[in-house]
Amino acid sequence: MVERIPAAKLGDIPDGEAILVPRSLTGTIDDIALFQDGGEYFALDNTCSHELASLSEGWIEDGVVECPLHTGRFCLRDGKVLSAPADTDVAAHTVEVDGDDILIVPNPERLA
Ligand code: FES
Repeated sequence: MVERIPAAKLGDIPDGEAILVPRSLTGTIDDIALFQDGGEYFALDNTCSHELASLSEGWIEDGVVECPLHTGRFCLRDGKVLSAPADTDVAAHTVEVDGDDILIVPNPERLA
């Protein structure tokens, strides 16, 4: 069974922003970007599939993150690529809220 990993507390991530959750905490291949968008939380692999920029530093709006380097866009819900120059999806992870805790359930395909 995949572990549920406490990654942040409610209030740690302002709306429209993200934090970087290190892979040393999650046991995943990549660091994870944990986003808040309008009271919902989403987690994606942090590394952009185009030229490896950090998606946790991207722009977040309407369920989409825009890469800070070349503005490739990805769906926060499932990591699907939405616009060039990125052309490959990034992995999504499950997020659960339990009380004050925001928990990441790592995508089993992305465990180290
Ligand atoms: S590094 Fe993300 S779009 Fe280029």
